[in-house]
Formats: sequence, structure tokens, C-alpha cells
Amino acid sequence: MMAQFLLFVLALFFFALSVLGSTPQGFFLRQDPSFSTACLEFEPLNYVPNAAVNAHEFVAAGTTLQFPGSDPSCATPNQTVSVDICRIALNISTSDRSGVIFESWLPRNWTGRFLATGNGGIDGCIKYDDINYGNANGFSAVGSNNGHNGTGGSAFLNNPEVLNDYVYRSLHTIAEAGKNLTAAFYSRPANNSYYLGCSGGGRQGIKAAEMFPEDFNGIVVGAPAVNFNNMTSWRASFFGKTGAPSSPNFIPASAWQGFIHDKVLKQCDTIDGVADGIIEDPTLCDFRPEALICSAGQNSTDCLNEAQVEIIRSVLSPLYGASGELVFPAMQPGSEVMAVQKLYAGAPFPYSLDWFRYVVYNTSTFDDTHFSISDITAAQALNPFNVQTYPSNISNFTGPHKGKLLIFHGQQDQQITSFATERFYKHLAEGVGLYSTQLDEFLRFFRISGMFHCNSGPGAWMIGQAGSGSIGFDPESNVLAAVVQWVEEGLPPETILGTKYVNDSKVNGVERSRRHCRFPYRNTYIGGNASLPQSWECIVPDFVEH
Ligand SMILES: *[C@@H]1O[C@H](CO)[C@@H](O)[C@H](O)[C@H]1NC(C)=O
Ligand SMILES: *[C@@H]1O[C@H](CO)[C@@H](O)[C@H](O)[C@H]1NC(C)=O
Ligand SMILES: *[C@@H]1O[C@H](CO)[C@@H](O)[C@H](O)[C@H]1NC(C)=O
Ligand SMILES: *[C@@H]1O[C@H](CO)[C@@H](O)[C@H](O)[C@H]1NC(C)=O
Ligand SMILES: *[C@@H]1O[C@H](CO)[C@@H](O)[C@H](O)[C@H]1NC(C)=O
Ligand SMILES: *[C@@H]1O[C@H](CO)[C@@H](O)[C@H](O)[C@H]1NC(C)=O
Ligand SMILES: *[C@@H]1O[C@H](CO)[C@@H](O)[C@H](O)[C@H]1NC(C)=O
Ligand SMILES: *[C@@H]1O[C@H](CO)[C@@H](O)[C@H](O)[C@H]1NC(C)=O
Ligand SMILES: *[C@@H]1O[C@H](CO)[C@@H](O)[C@H](O)[C@H]1NC(C)=O
Ligand SMILES: *[C@@H]1O[C@H](CO)[C@@H](O)[C@H](O)[C@H]1NC(C)=O
Ligand SMILES: *[C@@H]1O[C@H](CO)[C@@H](O)[C@H](O)[C@H]1NC(C)=O
Ligand SMILES: *[C@@H]1O[C@H](CO)[C@@H](O)[C@H](O)[C@H]1NC(C)=O
Repeated sequence: MMAQFLLFVLALFFFALSVLGSTPQGFFLRQDPSFSTACLEFEPLNYVPNAAVNAHEFVAAGTTLQFPGSDPSCATPNQTVSVDICRIALNISTSDRSGVIFESWLPRNWTGRFLATGNGGIDGCIKYDDINYGNANGFSAVGSNNGHNGTGGSAFLNNPEVLNDYVYRSLHTIAEAGKNLTAAFYSRPANNSYYLGCSGGGRQGIKAAEMFPEDFNGIVVGAPAVNFNNMTSWRASFFGKTGAPSSPNFIPASAWQGFIHDKVLKQCDTIDGVADGIIEDPTLCDFRPEALICSAGQNSTDCLNEAQVEIIRSVLSPLYGASGELVFPAMQPGSEVMAVQKLYAGAPFPYSLDWFRYVVYNTSTFDDTHFSISDITAAQALNPFNVQTYPSNISNFTGPHKGKLLIFHGQQDQQITSFATERFYKHLAEGVGLYSTQLDEFLRFFRISGMFHCNSGPGAWMIGQAGSGSIGFDPESNVLAAVVQWVEEGLPPETILGTKYVNDSKVNGVERSRRHCRFPYRNTYIGGNASLPQSWECIVPDFVEH
């Protein structure tokens, strides 16, 4: 009798567990076979009605998912999933002429958090890797093709609806759809919502803060492609400056990566106190290329003529408009090692080329060898759906909604100069009339020295910006974990501890780790082993009022 009663109580207990949620971390017990059943029985179209199902499956940890339909230009044919998930892939209509290819991956072990991931460039490539990164850390995570497939822009031609998705509608739609599915699947809504994106994905995050302040509680953006029209023009302007590889004074990659980069380091590397190949603050580097002019009898493989020095000056200068106004800030010196791949390659920058072709001029014949000021003006004048993304006030996000924005930018970025993010930071500060110490309450911008565009580089670049750049989910060393702690516990990140492995491989051990400072603080060597974080200090530059 007693035993029966106990069994009954136990049964009730387990029933309650299965209904109400089991562990503080999530709804489904790790060994609970009902997770896969619950996944397959779930009816997503009840919660995202304006859609069709592309895939709906339980995926066990360790499985490599294949994406045969993924555009080859995205180079994402497969993704190995780190944890058990329920995968729901939909085609959500956004108008009668457009739709988004959407992925919602719901992990068994859920923390109550939701994550939306962004795209890059002008592309429509789903970042499966970022979705998996979110899942691996307990987020219910979503991503999409941002309204079109592949890295090119031809889908924009004569279809403003596709452009609308690209500019803002896709991300807003998938945030809403993802939250709907999350709430229904786990029987309670996400406690907090986050966004993670870099480059074009960085612009998407800022646009969300500007237009849909309630979509996210915390936003992490890297190298944001804000001031988009002008940035597109700036990128297009390089081809005219460098000339094609066949032109007489073209500077080859070997020169940029060899003696030119060496000279940049010679002039600027020790400003921060250490010759380690990393310029902590490129704003202090006023590179003088005339030091590279060939002297009499010098072998011209190690030096430049006057015309080439002029090309370097022009490449490292800001872009100005018709009345001499600033269009986009200068490329930061130090980035030449990687900039030879695209901006200094003597070829059109593909994203800019497609934007002018398929959006600004609606013709596939645009040729940016002859890029001129009138192109800058045309791009800015069109500004479709306000893709510009240059808010001077994001108070709706940071004020009543208490949203937190964490921005990072590599100081050796070869695709979007990091000076553009400093300018944007100051633009926001002026727009809302706040000093940096006041902005610190909701906006922090970390300058990641020695990091290329979004990731990699000689510096301590691993900061949790993606699964491949993460050494763990610790707020001290992971930007996503840092914004979570900021939102949920009110503890903002003071610094971000970056890590660099020897040859970027963990088995080789750590080459250096360094705490990156938030703007306008500047990292400065104070003594000791420069590979260790305690040998550096964030100091306030003289000019800052605070
Ligand atoms: C989310 O659910 C709400 C109502 O429950 C619905 O109005 C909305 O259309 C859904 N969003 C999407 C993107 O399906
Ligand atoms: C799927 O997406 C396309 C555009 O990519 C759209 O035209 C179509 O209506 C969508 N279908 C459904 C059922 O959502
Ligand atoms: C875009 O890619 C998805 C698969 O990711 C595919 O289902 C869809 O048909 C593609 N759309 C177009 C217009 O090619
Ligand atoms: C996944 O795709 C990569 C190419 O990006 C390929 O090298 C690898 O073999 C694929 N793995 C599986 C399991 O399909
Ligand atoms: C569930 O997720 C939490 C947070 O990500 C983690 O600490 C915990 O170890 C996970 N539990 C299991 C059983 O995987
Ligand atoms: C999420 O909110 C629920 C209550 O709605 C709470 O029980 C749970 O602990 C919260 N989880 C986190 C990670 O804050
Ligand atoms: C210049 O340097 C290159 C490479 O170091 C060498 O091959 C070449 O012979 C040198 N030319 C002269 C004129 O010294
Ligand atoms: C963008 O460029 C235009 C010139 O076409 C200039 O007037 C404008 O101030 C620039 N905006 C920003 C934010 O740089
Ligand atoms: C190109 O098409 C868009 C609409 O898709 C239009 O707004 C724009 O004015 C067109 N540009 C030109 C140069 O015709
Ligand atoms: C804030 O939101 C209100 C209400 O939607 C809107 O009227 C206002 O323009 C927004 N402010 C800014 C700076 O975007
Ligand atoms: C910023 O926007 C908010 C919300 O629209 C508004 O209340 C506030 O006055 C604006 N701040 C400035 C300095 O314009
Ligand atoms: C790192 O890479 C360099 C250049 O490829 C190589 O010479 C060196 O042996 C590598 N070091 C380790 C520890 O793998």
C-alpha cells in the first residue's frame, strides 16, 4: 500500500517534470527519448503560418547535416551539429515576390535564451556555424538567407522586395518566427533574446537596434558595415587608385606584404611600447610612405617610385565627396597583409560592383575602373529602405528597453576600416549628447588589435565571435557571454580577453593573450612578458573628456 502510494507520488513527480520542465537549464532531460518525439510531433506552421516546411527533423549530436540546396558561392555544404537539436527549416513568405529561407535549431538542453544570427557582405548565406555555436551554448538559435541565395546581388535587380528583406525585413521576420517557435516548443517564451553578426551582419544588428528596438536585449556586432552607401563607394574607389595588375605602377601583393608592411611596422609598431608585429592603436600611426622611395642604385624589388608612393598615399587617405566632405575614413595602416586579397588586388570589389550594378544603376554593365564622385552621390541618393544604417540615436533600444550593444572591430581589418567604427561611435555620442563614460552604460566598443576582418590575424583575436573563435563561454573572454552577463546581471564587460594559439591551433598552445580595451581607452605596454595580459594596461588618451 505504502509502496504503491510512493510509486504514485513518484509517477506524479515525473509527470510534473515532463510537463513543467525538468532542470533549471532546460525543458528536456538529457536522456529523455521524448525529445525526438516532441520534435517530430511539433507543428511549426501553427506558429509561423505564412510559410512552407523545407526540413523538420531530430538531429543527434555529432551528425553532419548536408545542405545540397545551399548556393555553392556560400561554401557551406554541411555542418556538424555539436548537441542534440530539433531542426526546423522553413521558407517564410515576406511578400508576394519574396521570402526567406529560415533555419530554427532548438537544442535539447535549453538555457531559456534565444539567438538570431546574421549574414555578411551583400550575401544570402546562412551561417550554420553560428547557429550551431548558439546551440552548443544553450541558445535556441535561428539564421536565414536574408532573402536571397548566394554571395552575389543579382537577385536585387528589379525586385525591391528582395532588397527590403536584405536591408531589415528578413532579420525582423526571423527574430519573430524564431521566438514564436521557441515559445511553443519549450512551452515558455525565451527569457532574453540576443543577436550576433559581423560585417554585413554587423549592419543588420545596428539596423535592428534602430528600427526594432524590442527584438533583442543584447546585440553583439563586429566590424559593422554602417554608413553603408558610403562604405560601398569607398570600397569601389580602390580599383581606380591601384589600377589593374597590368598597369605600369601597380604595386604587387609581394611588395605590400613584404617591405611595405615592414616599413609600416618599423614606423608604428613600437608606439604601444612593444615590437610584436601588432599596432595596438592604428589612429596613432601616421604612415609616411616616402620613406620607401628608391635611393640611387637600390634594387627596385625593395623600394618604390614616386608614382607608387602616391598610390599608397591615396589608398591610405579618406574618401571625400563633391564639396570636399568626408565620405568614408581612411584604411588603417597595417591591414595591407590581407587587403591585397580584395581591395588592393587591382580588381573591382565584388560586393560594391554588384551593388552598383543591380541596385544603384540596374544594369550589369557598370564598370568601377571609372568610379567617380557621381557614383558616390548616386548611391547615397538612392539609399533604398535606408540601408545607410547610421543612426545618431538608438535610445529606443537602450532606454526603456535597456538593450545592451557590444561592438568590436579588428584593428587590422582589410575590408572595412576600423576608423569607420570609431567615427560611428563618436557620431552616436554626439547624437545623444553623452560622454563615453555615460555611453558605457549601454554601448561598449572594443578595438581588437591584430585582428583581420571579423576574425583571425596575428593578434589575440579569439574573443568568442563565433564557434571557431571561442575558447569557452566565459564573459571575460567571450563577447557573446559578456553581453549575456551584461543583460542578465547588469555586469558590463570592462575588457575582453583575447587569445591567440600558435598557428591558430589549440594543440600548439597559446602564443599570446591580451585584454582588449573599450574605446576610447588605449592598450599600452607597462612591462613584463608582452604575451601576457598583465603586461598591458588600458589607459585614457589625453584628449578624452569624461
Ligand atoms: C508570430 O506569432 C504571432 C501571433 O502568435 C503572429 O501574429 C505572427 O505572424 C507570427 N510571426 C511569424 C513571423 O510568423
Ligand atoms: C518561398 O520563397 C519564395 C521566394 O524565395 C516565395 O516566392 C514563395 O512564396 C515562398 N513560398 C512559401 C510557401 O512560403
Ligand atoms: C535558395 O536555397 C534554398 C536552399 O537553401 C532552396 O530551397 C531555394 O529553392 C533557393 N532559392 C532560389 C531562388 O534558388
Ligand atoms: C563537409 O564539407 C567540406 C567542404 O567544405 C568537406 O571537406 C567535408 O568532407 C564535408 N564533410 C562531410 C562529412 O560531408
Ligand atoms: C546544459 O547547458 C548548460 C549551459 O550551457 C551546461 O552548463 C550543462 O553542462 C549542459 N548540460 C548537459 C547535460 O549537457
Ligand atoms: C528563465 O525564466 C524562468 C522563469 O520564466 C526561470 O525559471 C529561469 O530560471 C530563467 N532562466 C534563466 C537562464 O534566466
Ligand atoms: C634584386 O633583388 C632580387 C631578389 O632579391 C634579385 O633576384 C635580383 O637579382 C636583384 N637585382 C639586382 C639588379 O640586384
Ligand atoms: C556620405 O557621403 C555623402 C556624400 O555623398 C556625405 O554628404 C555624407 O555626409 C556622408 N555620410 C557619412 C555618414 O559619412
Ligand atoms: C533601379 O531600380 C530601383 C527599384 O528597383 C529604383 O528605385 C532605382 O531608381 C533604379 N535606378 C535607376 C538608375 O534606374
Ligand atoms: C522611438 O520610437 C518612437 C515610437 O515608435 C518613434 O516615434 C521615434 O521616432 C523613435 N526614436 C528614434 C530616435 O528612433
Ligand atoms: C533620442 O530618441 C529618444 C526616443 O525617440 C528621444 O526621447 C530623445 O529625445 C532623443 N535624444 C536626442 C538627444 O535627440
Ligand atoms: C607554425 O607554422 C609555421 C609556418 O607554416 C611553421 O614553420 C611552424 O613549424 C608551425 N609551428 C607549429 C608549432 O606548428
